[in-house]
Amino acid sequence: MSAVLGHDCFVLQEKIRSCHTFLNTYKWLTDSFVLDFFTENHWAKLCTSWAQSLDLLTLQEMGECLLSQSGTSKTNSLVLPLSLLAFKAACKALSLDRTAISSLDEIISYLIKLGFKSATLQHCEWMSPNSACKPKGALRSLSQVFHRQVKPKKQHELYRMGQCCATISQVTKCQTVADVGAGVGHLSRFLSYGHGLDVICLECEEKFGSAAVKLDSKLEESCARQGITNITTPRHITLTLSPYTKNLMELLEPHIIKETSAVGLIGLHTCGDLGPTLIRNFAVDPGIKFILAIGCCYMKMSLDRTSPVRGYPMSNFVQNQLNPSFVSYEALEVACHALESYSGRLTDLESEKFKVHCYRATLETLLIKLEPPLQRAGLRSVKNAHLLPFEEYARKALDKMDVKLDFSDLSSEHVQSCLKQWKRVVMFYSLRLMLAPVIETVVQLDRLLYLAEQGWCGCLLPLFDCRLSPRNFALLCVKPEPKSESC
Ligand SMILES: C[S@@+](CC[C@H](N)C(=O)[O-])C[C@H]1O[C@@H](n2cnc3c(N)ncnc32)[C@H](O)[C@@H]1O
Repeated sequence: MSAVLGHDCFVLQEKIRSCHTFLNTYKWLTDSFVLDFFTENHWAKLCTSWAQSLDLLTLQEMGECLLSQSGTSKTNSLVLPLSLLAFKAACKALSLDRTAISSLDEIISYLIKLGFKSATLQHCEWMSPNSACKPKGALRSLSQVFHRQVKPKKQHELYRMGQCCATISQVTKCQTVADVGAGVGHLSRFLSYGHGLDVICLECEEKFGSAAVKLDSKLEESCARQGITNITTPRHITLTLSPYTKNLMELLEPHIIKETSAVGLIGLHTCGDLGPTLIRNFAVDPGIKFILAIGCCYMKMSLDRTSPVRGYPMSNFVQNQLNPSFVSYEALEVACHALESYSGRLTDLESEKFKVHCYRATLETLLIKLEPPLQRAGLRSVKNAHLLPFEEYARKALDKMDVKLDFSDLSSEHVQSCLKQWKRVVMFYSLRLMLAPVIETVVQLDRLLYLAEQGWCGCLLPLFDCRLSPRNFALLCVKPEPKSESC
């Protein structure tokens, strides 16, 4: 069972406390951007035994021994330092299991615990364009249209989120959902035309809302050509949802077109503060029956401890009783990286591609010598940088920037000695990446604890395959049936 239930405040508090203690100890690592590898001499921060043994590993062995789940290498016979093995074990023990749920059964058992009738809930496999369980009805006939201009990662997310949302809506009798931060409306189209839900989209950027309306019209033209008439068009509202919207239901009511007992709040990739905003609205508004939200871009959250609408921490427990000194932009940024695909690329002998980390860190040493120094500047990304000599990479990365770099520096002894260390740069980045799931865990558990403090029992579900979609946790919280004991 990979879902985590948020019913026991004490259990959640203890898990969060352990993560904090661990992460505070490794703040020096989470705060070390790989970009500053040479300027801040990151390698010297490792204890001697770690540095020595990492120097003896190949990158493939690093991927196999330390990053991958199996933790075994076919080639490495080196015994790693106990402290490094303990670091690895602690990262694993403190992180939520990221293995995607294999069917909707875990959602169904959560709903049963909340008092929803088990008779209406049946075992259900995931549908996907490629699986044996094919989409049915409108989803099937429109699948070509849905897939147009939608990458495989997004298709995977739409199918799983769509099916999950449709099931919860059916069981909770919420025919209307509000998709907040709807972007250009991929999810809302899937839910309304595919699953027949009544969808209201809230999006703060007007241009995304208008693009969504155009895409909706194109899809309706396809429906007309195929003789599909029974369709529900999503409504698009340009609005910035605030953390405590006093009249969210009042605002939504004029746009509701189906008979519904309440409304569900959903969000796919609720970046930065948008996730906490949805959670706060759900917690206080009796008209909102459920929330289903996937977070992303944690580093964009507000961290001001004095603000009542801060993104982290949300719970009173963390706010009043813990010292989250590890929390920083850098730590929350690394939590958004894709551990599984990185580890796969190290073991698939694609690791040469990561030379680019070293190129960028080497260039940084030259950029900070400028007058005025150009620290951590956003440079052009260079395709296939690992196949280029450093000089060419540097020229391309700085292209169109008004930088007076002494290009004779590009082949200096200093540069050559940095470039020789490219494997160390990748090793250091990999160590940092091992902490990413722990940081994401603490952010998600704090959200669950906030809900528990408000009296709601939520759950965390790894909804997506993390190799396809690394931010794969859905926070689901449903207000229980009145007579149930709740979970
Ligand atoms: C990462 S995008 C996700 C878009 C879409 N859900 C998807 O998955 O493709 C987040 C969207 O949320 C919107 N947004 C951020 N904060 C918002 C707020 N407080 N109210 C409404 N929209 C917001 C942004 O403009 C952006 O389009």
